[in-house]
Amino acid sequence: MFMSRLQRIPLDRAKLGMYVSDQTPGLLECGLNAKGVISRESTLEKLRAANIAELYIDPDKGKSSPFAVPLPLSAAELKARVPLEQERENAEAIYKQARNLVGDMMKKAKLGKAIEMGPVEGLAEEINHSVLSNANALMCLSQIREKDAYLLEHSVNVGLLMSVFSRYLGYAEEERHQMVTGALLHDIGKIRVPNHVLNKPGKLSDEEWREMREHVRYGEEVLMRSEGITPIALAICSQHHEKLDGSGYPRGLSDKQIAVVSRMAAVVDIYDAITADRVYHEGKTPFDTLKIMQDMVGKHLDADLVYQFITCMSIYPVGSLVELSNGRLASVIQVNHDKPDSPLVRCFYNLRSRHYEAVKLVDLAKRQDLLVQAVVDPKNLQIDLRDFL
Ligand SMILES: [Fe+2]
Repeated sequence: MFMSRLQRIPLDRAKLGMYVSDQTPGLLECGLNAKGVISRESTLEKLRAANIAELYIDPDKGKSSPFAVPLPLSAAELKARVPLEQERENAEAIYKQARNLVGDMMKKAKLGKAIEMGPVEGLAEEINHSVLSNANALMCLSQIREKDAYLLEHSVNVGLLMSVFSRYLGYAEEERHQMVTGALLHDIGKIRVPNHVLNKPGKLSDEEWREMREHVRYGEEVLMRSEGITPIALAICSQHHEKLDGSGYPRGLSDKQIAVVSRMAAVVDIYDAITADRVYHEGKTPFDTLKIMQDMVGKHLDADLVYQFITCMSIYPVGSLVELSNGRLASVIQVNHDKPDSPLVRCFYNLRSRHYEAVKLVDLAKRQDLLVQAVVDPKNLQIDLRDFL
């Protein structure tokens, strides 16, 4: 039988009618007998006085909330179901299909037509399925970018990252389906922003910036006319540029007004945007991007979600170029949630002799003698990583 997972909710967002699990951290230690449905305000006050920061609630036995998130999966639950090489072919077919489909949708949106939701939902399902089989296969492909196809690739990648992140957070299948659908469509309105604004290398003028921000409203318009769009998918499009401190757009929503799915979308959107090469900036390495994102917590991004995302992506995310202690360069092709500092890598270059070598797969978790010494930016070595992912 399907068992619902417990959810976490910050105490300041807990409400009467929620069912508190005895697995709530610190609950037993503080001697409070708060297990069960919260029926009085005084219970919340006692929890506050006992410095309980968050509650674990059971949504099957009491109220839930859009601010509740599931408990993350364990490393064992996150293990890939099939080897990377086995999923690769399927992932390649999905990635190609995704690019074609998103490209078609954009053409339709440009003409002001509604989106046909069936094919997008089908794609979301295939992405979710591939992520369950072995998320690293699609993640490797998402690192290989073509020039001049940013909007298309960004949409596909945000869909993929949402699939990976929502799975890590333990969301149920049906919700993930809607979240990935929304993520694939989040920037659909950009197709109506003039190209000279979208691809301007320098700083945007006030008027250009106003046009750029309109992409959210355009996207909402298209989606609201599309039959079968769900509130989750729509919230992702509507709120992915809102910021916690209220300085985002288009509505300047703040903190509690921004749904968790939209906060997640903001996290994965920014991750992909910073790692990509654009006309106005060079893409950062995944490792540096995660560091930059840490500085965006609080004011812009949800701190808890950013830290969860960093753990989800691991220390050296798929697509990272690393220097090993034996002087070899290697690309990270599979993360290891049991041992985050020991991913599966593909070695291909000897930094000491400065020669390419026959590609060799190395599982660092099985090599006590070998470790990652540094993260390298492929641009500094003029290496094109696409052949090694
Ligand atoms: Fe956007």
